[in-house]
Amino acid sequence: MARILITSAIPYINGIKHLGNLVGSQLPADLYARYMRARGHEVMFLCATDEHGTPAELAAAKTGEPVAEYCARMHGVQAELARGFRLSFDHFGRSSSPQNHRLTQYFAGRLAENGYIEEVAEKQVYSNADKRFLPDRYIEGTCPNCGYDKARGDQCENCTKQLDPTDLIEPRSAISGSTDLEVRETKHLYLRQSLMKDDLAAWIDSKTDWPILTTSIARKWLNDGDGLQDRGITRDLDWGIPVKRGEEDWPGMEGKVFYVWFDAPIEYIAAAAEWAEAQGRPEADWRRWWRTDEGAADVRYVQFMGKDNVPFHTLSFPATIMGSRDPWKLVDYIKSFNYLNYDGGQFSTSQGRGVFMDQALAILPSDYWRWWLLSHAPESSDSEFTWENFQASVNKDLADVLGNFVSRVTKFCRAKFGEVVPEGGSPGDRETELTDELYIRLRAYQAHMEAIEIRKAAGELRAIWVAGNEYLQAAAPWTAIKTEPETAAMQIRFSLNLIRLYAVLSAPFIPDASAALLKALDSGDDWPDDLPAALNRLAPGHAFATPDILFRKIADEEREGWQAQFAGARR
Ligand code: 2FM
Ligand code: ZN
Repeated sequence: MARILITSAIPYINGIKHLGNLVGSQLPADLYARYMRARGHEVMFLCATDEHGTPAELAAAKTGEPVAEYCARMHGVQAELARGFRLSFDHFGRSSSPQNHRLTQYFAGRLAENGYIEEVAEKQVYSNADKRFLPDRYIEGTCPNCGYDKARGDQCENCTKQLDPTDLIEPRSAISGSTDLEVRETKHLYLRQSLMKDDLAAWIDSKTDWPILTTSIARKWLNDGDGLQDRGITRDLDWGIPVKRGEEDWPGMEGKVFYVWFDAPIEYIAAAAEWAEAQGRPEADWRRWWRTDEGAADVRYVQFMGKDNVPFHTLSFPATIMGSRDPWKLVDYIKSFNYLNYDGGQFSTSQGRGVFMDQALAILPSDYWRWWLLSHAPESSDSEFTWENFQASVNKDLADVLGNFVSRVTKFCRAKFGEVVPEGGSPGDRETELTDELYIRLRAYQAHMEAIEIRKAAGELRAIWVAGNEYLQAAAPWTAIKTEPETAAMQIRFSLNLIRLYAVLSAPFIPDASAALLKALDSGDDWPDDLPAALNRLAPGHAFATPDILFRKIADEEREGWQAQFAGARR
């Protein structure tokens, strides 16, 4: 049994996430966590809301709530949606937690002790109209790198370049739109990550098994000298983690807070501490996941994120960890994703374009979405959501292939043998052939899941469902029953066991359907390590309940209705 620490990029608190956000980190992380648990490994799966910085302040200003209240409310909303999508976090924390305050201040103190923090008097954009400094997202303008005209002060969404507010061309205040800006002097802390360039480069070079998407972005920022510029890790804002050096005040830093991208990844660690507190467990219980000197040496740590998050996770956060010179766990594998587009354009939170998590669940249960999103995960390139494609996948994969198999087998059994696994007959060539095929496919499925090749895993799972359907079609128990009832009984017994196998294998993708099947079959979810045994698991005489329809089809009119409903902006 291995120990696997899994984190998903922590979503910003401002508003409900769209399906593109979901498939870029939380959902694949959940798939992996569920799979690893099913294989008997010890898993710690953590996520949280990213509550500091300008996105939170701006969103709260819009609703008129005090920012702390806004964050508490939106955390509740996001946690509820996470439950709706069956995201099986061991803990869904908050970057504003006391644990993260302490850890972030602790890391800053360690970095300072080790010479990685510099105090810099710098020029910052000040808005005369707003009477305040405009860090990060408080300022917008044209990207000096790609010319995108809605680049933000911290990063260009279009080309992913990390920016400073003073880099922007034709800058304007994101609060008032004012261009009456001036540059004023203020003092800030800088993380001297450039000092760690060689260590980071060697570390990235050692990750030969990482996805190209991850390493190519890391190398790009490492080598063009840009990503590793020393970066300001403090801001002139009210909301955030007060700048302290460990537990001590930091002279000259009064009234300032840490930059959101400094404290956000530290929340991965803090979330484990929050988990321990919530569970009433001692500190040692979370530290054994994070401190290699306290039990985490054998932990495998896997992170999930969209490509825009890669620079922070391959360079800045590792620099924080390395610079602390403490034995905190560094990430072992970073699975990153391209973007999911929406119907010929981009999903956009700011423009309310696409399908958002709450809207999706209002339309259909989470398994429908999980299956489509995961089987179309934007791994090797960007992928696109269209309503036609969604309808086709649901109707074909879920309703025609998996759902239909289950319903034909269980209904036929109920009609001919009653709701018990029938006895009689012994498996023949057809059953042996299918078992052989499934053996090979199961190996492939497991290998893809282990390698986090999500589309390939989904493809193999679909092929496993298809094989059962083809078997049933060829075996034709409805014909056999007329002349060889024993054979029909054996075929149905075998097919009921296939349903159970499908339920177990499919659980990471479609947990609700799987749970419903296992409940109907009144059976456990142990993994088919011994496939022939697993296919005999439901013995003759075992009672079951015919399950309700697993997946319904999406009608054309319904699909057209949704297309129209989602054509405009959300608000
Ligand atoms: O891009 C985002 O949604 C960020 N909130 C991700 C932060 S991930 C981590 F560093 F905590
Ligand atoms: Zn750009």
